[in-house]
Parts: sequence; C-alpha cells; structure tokens
Amino acid sequence: MISRPPSFTNATPFAQLFGRKGLLLWIREFLDKTNMDGFYIEFGVFNGESIKEAFYALRNQVIKYIGFDSFSGLPKLSNKIDTAGANIMEQFVEGNYTSMGYDFVKTNILSTGMDEGNLLLVKGFFDETLTQEMQSSLLSSGNGKASVIHVDVDLYSSTLQALEFSHPFMQTGCWLLCDDYWCYRGGSSFGTQRAINEFLKNHPDIHFQEYCSYNGWAKAFIIDQIP
Ligand SMILES: C[S@@+](CC[C@H](N)C(=O)[O-])C[C@H]1O[C@@H](n2cnc3c(N)ncnc32)[C@H](O)[C@@H]1O
Repeated sequence: MISRPPSFTNATPFAQLFGRKGLLLWIREFLDKTNMDGFYIEFGVFNGESIKEAFYALRNQVIKYIGFDSFSGLPKLSNKIDTAGANIMEQFVEGNYTSMGYDFVKTNILSTGMDEGNLLLVKGFFDETLTQEMQSSLLSSGNGKASVIHVDVDLYSSTLQALEFSHPFMQTGCWLLCDDYWCYRGGSSFGTQRAINEFLKNHPDIHFQEYCSYNGWAKAFIIDQIP
C-alpha cells in the first residue's frame, strides 16, 4: 500500500509563507545597522492592526507613526481601471473594509504603549487628506524622510495617490511595503502593480529594488533614490 504524506488542509493559508511580522523585525535590524532615520507612514490603517505590528517590531528604531484612512472603507470607484478591476477582485468595492471608527482605532493603536504625541492618525478620503499642506507639515517634522512606507489600500487609484504623496519622503534605504501587490491575478493592468509602474515612469529619480514577497499577496521593496 502507498503511504501518502499528511494533508495540510487544516493549516492557515499563510503559515508556510514569509510573514509581515518577521519582515518588520528584519527591517528594524536593517534600519539600525545602516543608521537610517525617518518615520513610518501607512496608507490603509483599517482597525490599526498593521500599525500595531509595525510599532511592536520597530519601536526602538522608529519614533513617529503616521496613518491615513477614511475609516469608512474604500472610496467610490471613480475610474475605469478600478471599476474594471472589480470584476476580478469583487471585494474591492465602495465601503468595504469599514473600520470600527477613528476613536476605536486610535485607542487600539495607543494600547501598545505608543506615546500619543508620536502618532498622527488622519481621517478622510485621500482626495481630501493627502494635501500639499499635509506634505509640507510632514516634511518639516524630524528629517522629513520616511524609513518605511506601507501601502495597503487595494485600489490602483488609492495606491497611486499614496505613492505620489510619499515621493518627497522617499530616500535610499526606505522600505516600501505593498500589501496588495499580487492581487488582480498577479497582473499589472490593475491595482498596485499598475500604480507602481506609473509612479516610476513619473519619477525617474526613484528605483524600487525588489526585496521579497510576504503574506502571500504582498511584496517589499527597498527604495533607491538616484541623486
Ligand atoms: C485592507 S484595508 C487595510 C488593512 C490594514 N493595513 C491591516 O493590515 O490591518 C484597506 C484600507 O484602505 C482604506 N482606503 C483605501 N482607499 C482609500 C482612500 N482613497 N482614502 C482613504 N482610505 C482608503 C480603506 O478605508 C481600508 O481601511
């Protein structure tokens, strides 16, 4: 009789994959050993779990944490790319990922022990919140640069907005974490991949060095800024 290997059907789908928590711990080591300074900025906070994860891993290395979200879920799909993409990613529609609300999320993040003065949590759709005034204000805090840019906003339009807003904060050695990189069947016509390609075309001074995939759907890059 042929003996078969045990089935893994009860294992969680990501258990065998490289995860975000492990990656963040490695990023802490990288930032430390390369004398990197800068804030953690996240687009797509939802209930705050990813900022908490980042804080637990990076807290001795990164002081300031910034998060942007509507807290009322994805925006109305306003362009052809996101609308067509919803035929593949049916969950990426208006209102999905509505959070427990701004106050809940803030309390949840501060439950880690993070100093309230080191958290900037901005509520609203990116059309209203990713303004030049906000950009200037972040540029004048600390060294005005990011150590980690975390983009987890599902849609092409939201990802491009987040990347364009972040351009002045980018520096060589800054990590770019894209949680939705392999969505849309891994294709480059929609979502994060399309946004990244357009962003890089708009900014020849920036390279994204491919580092690794994590959490199944996600991909990490190290930013290289050509002087
Ligand atoms: C998948 S959730 C983020 C999950 C979170 N990073 C985590 O790991 O727990 C995606 C988030 O992006 C936000 N989002 C997407 N597009 C947005 C936009 N244009 N303006 C504001 N928030 C947006 C949604 O409100 C939602 O909370």
